[in-house]
Amino acid sequence: MSFNTFGHLFRVTTFGESHGPAIGCVIDGCPPRIPLTEADIQPYLDRRRPGQSRYTTQRQEPDTVKILSGIFVDEASGTQVTTGTPIALIIDNLDQRSKDYSDIKDKYRPGHADFTYDAKYGLRDYRGGGRQSARETAMRVAAGAIARKVVPGMNVRAALVQMGPHHADRARWDWAEVERNPFFCPDAKTAALLGDYLDGLRKSGSSIGAVIEVVADGVPAGLGAPIYGKLDGDLAAALMSINAVKGVEIGAGFGSAELTGEENGDEMRMGNDGKPLFLSNNAGGILGGISTGQPVVARFAVKPTSSILNPRRTVDRYGRETEITTTGRHDPCVGIRAVPVGEAMVACVIADHYLRQRGQVGDNPAWPFSPPAR
Ligand SMILES: Cc1cc2nc3c(=O)[nH]c(=O)nc-3n(C[C@H](O)[C@H](O)[C@H](O)COP(=O)(O)O)c2cc1C
Repeated sequence: MSFNTFGHLFRVTTFGESHGPAIGCVIDGCPPRIPLTEADIQPYLDRRRPGQSRYTTQRQEPDTVKILSGIFVDEASGTQVTTGTPIALIIDNLDQRSKDYSDIKDKYRPGHADFTYDAKYGLRDYRGGGRQSARETAMRVAAGAIARKVVPGMNVRAALVQMGPHHADRARWDWAEVERNPFFCPDAKTAALLGDYLDGLRKSGSSIGAVIEVVADGVPAGLGAPIYGKLDGDLAAALMSINAVKGVEIGAGFGSAELTGEENGDEMRMGNDGKPLFLSNNAGGILGGISTGQPVVARFAVKPTSSILNPRRTVDRYGRETEITTTGRHDPCVGIRAVPVGEAMVACVIADHYLRQRGQVGDNPAWPFSPPAR
């Protein structure tokens, strides 16, 4: 009845609350003999970590990850590798200021999950949102760092492509720029506008939504399964499971409603390497729930932060009408810190499907399969 686990063969279970002593996860099914140390995971956590710029929450958490199990030093090489047993990871919660939340403990924040947790469980940990808090997403990022190592040659990157009215211009897309500005925006010109825009929002006590695009390169053709195991279906579920995500699209997504069949269908030619070549990628690298070998492209919409300074009408758990303002720390745009989380979820789903495909075809050297010779 409790759904804190995702994946079939690469299986991730997370645990912990915002203001408990620690958060953690267990990754079961990771293949053995993959080199793994904390240093492989930490850089991804550092990208998601709060308090890194003035545009994200000032909660100060070093988010230092510790590997508790599932690793051993391989005698032959002297390298620390995965053993194939469950990998448990833990991050201590250090900056817990429960008092910030005490005056809202009985009130339901509009747009947050306070009401639904109470409706479902009859109680809730109001300190920082407890399990509803996106603090849990740190563990997804840690699991994603390991998932990336499972699929040889895979590179998963994400970028913030829209914040409020500001859209990244695709003609100026530069992946290097994503790491140069605090918004993970691929377009330097748009990124230059976002600082003042967010400062204005923060001063006015408000918040704003965003759209993130995730691109996975190096995904072999043939991952995913028809009908109930579609790669796009699993990606949508994984991305939708991220806190505050309200929309997911693959490839041309909702835009495909405006396209004709000629515009939308990705035409094919034979490439010089003897493999089919797609002339466009409206499919987002997935046809029939199965990867085409093109980049897998997914976008997700993140709603505006619901804990805002401006007063909002609400009710409390005793049925009284009241007002609420959130004075604790928050991100004016949680979409920024959702960028590494989106990457991690896509990496985990693709790693899971990669292992499932290997499980089904075995180590057949012909896979990824090519069309038969004429
Ligand atoms: C990285 C990240 C940080 C978040 N930080 C906050 C926050 O500071 N305040 C807030 O109200 N919501 C925050 N959220 C969103 C809430 O966790 C989320 O809206 C809430 O759990 C309700 O779930 P839902 O929006 O998915 O329905 C954050 C989301 C993400 C992805």
